[in-house]
Amino acid sequence: MNPSPIGVFDSGLGGLTVAAQILKKLPNEPIIYLADTAHVPYGERPLEEIQGFALDITRFLRSLGCKMVVMACNMSSAVALHPAKEAFTDIPVLGVIEPGVRAAVRLAGDRPIGVMATTGTVSSHAYSKAIHAASPDIDVYEQACPAFVPLVESGKQDSPQAYSAAREYAQILLDGNVGTIILGCTHYPFLFPAIAEAAGPAVTLVDPAEETVIEIEKTLVENDIQCPEGRASDHRFFCTGDPAGFAELGSRFLRSRIDRVEQAVWGVDIGKVLA
Ligand code: DGL
Repeated sequence: MNPSPIGVFDSGLGGLTVAAQILKKLPNEPIIYLADTAHVPYGERPLEEIQGFALDITRFLRSLGCKMVVMACNMSSAVALHPAKEAFTDIPVLGVIEPGVRAAVRLAGDRPIGVMATTGTVSSHAYSKAIHAASPDIDVYEQACPAFVPLVESGKQDSPQAYSAAREYAQILLDGNVGTIILGCTHYPFLFPAIAEAAGPAVTLVDPAEETVIEIEKTLVENDIQCPEGRASDHRFFCTGDPAGFAELGSRFLRSRIDRVEQAVWGVDIGKVLA
């Protein structure tokens, strides 16, 4: 048993889709959520830069006493999960790509799988590699969706622009006759209505957050680090950009009030808590 928090991070609001699942399915577990809003969106940045951000944030969360770190960010999972596992051997570090792939392969049957993700995640081919490792013969179509993250970060996930971008991106996957689409960026479940309408009722959308929480629970049990039952959860939220903006939109997206957002900035070795 271990009452320490689980660290969860993303470039911005997207990882709240994973945080919300943790709060729902593992209500005893306290979390520390960090949104790297000074650098969002990650999706169009060089992969080496994202790797540096993700390793710095993992180090920061560990310095705050986290017993596990979850990269609730596909970009980070694609480029930094394996280096982080090698660098931080004293705590489990989890990503979102393999859980999402497991769920999609289960659902896909023999139809092709579509992946909607950021430009960086698509260019890393992390999804097609993981899908082919699980199911070598399945066809995979990956579609970069660069308009989506800025729409979510500006609270325009239900706007006409969001619906029209979703139609454009989905069409390319539908042309490949996909039966499932993995929402391969943690921001995309916030666009679920727009993507579902564009994909149509014959396509199943996979949100990796649900399967990720199953993996988090399994890892807590295997390492005997669950929070003792009955302990009140005491969450903390950090961001690297504007705390007020994150508190407001974050509360809406999490569907739970975020009263206080602390600001974190990176020092030479680890982040420094400012407030
Ligand atoms: N939500 C993140 C992901 O899952 C990053 C999106 C971005 O900042 O571009 O990839």
